[in-house]
Amino acid sequence: MTQRGKFITFEGIDGAGKSTHIQYVGELIAARGVELVSSREPGGTPLGEKLRELWLHESMHVETETLLVFASRREHIAQVIQPALERGAWVISDRFTDASFAYQGGGRGLSLDKLETIAYWVHPELEPDLTILFDVPLEVARARLDATRELDRFEREKAEFFFATRKEYLRRAEQHAHRFRVIDSTRSIDDIQRELAAIIGELA
Ligand code: ADP
Ligand code: TYD
Repeated sequence: MTQRGKFITFEGIDGAGKSTHIQYVGELIAARGVELVSSREPGGTPLGEKLRELWLHESMHVETETLLVFASRREHIAQVIQPALERGAWVISDRFTDASFAYQGGGRGLSLDKLETIAYWVHPELEPDLTILFDVPLEVARARLDATRELDRFEREKAEFFFATRKEYLRRAEQHAHRFRVIDSTRSIDDIQRELAAIIGELA
């Protein structure tokens, strides 16, 4: 019987450094000789990518926003994540359900009970084997974003929004300590890569 693959998710507030490290982690995994599937949310499927475009550029009610991201997630799980894990591939996803708790729950104030309910509805049995949370203070994230790119409607949110988003990420990391690894992302890229290599090396 094929051994189920691992499901690894990347999280953090915008500008924390997630995208900088995803490819490196992918290379570490591919070096183990396993099949790697690298994906992202919202998105990850043709329908999900269409939803992502709406999601990033239209303003909407927080519950609409939440339902859309979970719709994209449902499709992502059915078409990409579940089949890959079943055939033994390792899946890395740039964000997953913890982002909904952090952004829609923490940032926008949607009730965590509602989020628990929809998460249970959409993926009652799936949870990441490992979640890597890139953590930085808001000022550092903001300075990095301002230096680099044009901002989407989330990235233009105020400091309080990101403060609450980061707080909820850190709360989830404590609540689900068995699968979270929190990276101090204020350090140099080299230092962070060394820590990531150790984390991936520990996975059985
Ligand atoms: P995210 O994907 O979390 O939004 P990015 O990986 O795109 O963030 O990083 C945002 C910016 O910060 C990029 O310009 C990136 O080069 C820079 N950056 C990322 N990590 C570090 C780091 N450890 N030290 C200095 N700059 C960094
Ligand atoms: P992301 O793809 O990480 O942005 P970028 O490619 O610009 O780094 O995520 C897009 C935005 O969507 C980001 O600001 C976080 C937000 N988001 C949520 O608010 N809830 C969610 O459940 C997800 C998956 C993302």
